[in-house]
Amino acid sequence: MKGIILAGGSGTRLSPSTDGINKHLLAVYDKPMIYYPISILMLGGIKDIMIISTKDDQERFKALLGDGSALGISLTYEHQIEPNGIPEALIIGEKFIGKDDVTLILGDNIFYGQGFTNLFRRAIKNHEHATIFGYRVKDPKRFGVVEFDQNQKVLSLEEKPEEPKSDFAVTGLYIYDHHAAKIARKLTFSARGELEITDVNREYLKKGQLDVQLLGRGFAWMDAGTHESLFEASEFIKNIQDRQGFKLACLEEIAFYLRYISKEALYKKGKSMEKNDYGKYLMEIANRKHNQQYWESIDRDPVLGLVENE
Ligand code: DAU
Repeated sequence: MKGIILAGGSGTRLSPSTDGINKHLLAVYDKPMIYYPISILMLGGIKDIMIISTKDDQERFKALLGDGSALGISLTYEHQIEPNGIPEALIIGEKFIGKDDVTLILGDNIFYGQGFTNLFRRAIKNHEHATIFGYRVKDPKRFGVVEFDQNQKVLSLEEKPEEPKSDFAVTGLYIYDHHAAKIARKLTFSARGELEITDVNREYLKKGQLDVQLLGRGFAWMDAGTHESLFEASEFIKNIQDRQGFKLACLEEIAFYLRYISKEALYKKGKSMEKNDYGKYLMEIANRKHNQQYWESIDRDPVLGLVENE
């Protein structure tokens, strides 16, 4: 399974904050926005990830994240010339995907909730062709909307409908088989001048190859695409972190608990920023006496939320 993070776009809704920098490098509370989708792919067990950004900012992403080896993963970089739509990520990543399956995640999407890792891992393991994730929202008109029956069989998909047929938004997390790029290539521009990911999903639906997985009310899903939602997301992350003492989307911590990096590497990274809370947090985890216990009880792990063999 390959992973692609789409982190291009024009960011105009966050102007002037994004006039000089790519939106996904802005902080959501205490870490760059791009950390959140990377953490999701890592938790899903995906190690081979392509980050698609704007050309001007590609070097900044590389400076921030490098080739991924410090996290025990592989990161490669591509750019999108114009924000022509989300499916372009599949076209840009076509060679990278090859004959593999791919999980595409939007760079401004944040997922949080007990059991998410398991739900996502199970979806990756069990998916046949395409799986999308639905989440109930108050304002479905802003999103792709999925309509389904009592058996959670998808009936229809619409992009930003005037009159939504359900309250369930399609989140920016998509699992596809290797045909996705071919489907994306055949799309034409929509009335709003973009290639629409909803049209890719509709193609799978037409063939009876689309599954929807609903995220219940115990989950939080946010996109940080406007000043308001960015602020709300930051507040949310801060509240959870302050309360629990765990950080969300702390990539080094995830890499450590997945055993991609050593305790020494984790400590060294923390030490390099020991003056701030993030660095102190990494050092504290490296020094924890009970790490071995965490690993042994990974089925009950409170940090990653993994429940193996479920
Ligand atoms: O967030 C979920 C929603 O994302 C879905 O419900 C919709 O079906 C889907 O079309 C999309 O809607 P948005 O209007 O929120 O998409 P937006 O243009 O804001 O782009 C989402 C992210 O993808 C954002 O981080 C920027 C990036 N992007 C977007 C486009 C269109 C790119 O990097 N390149 C692009 O060409």
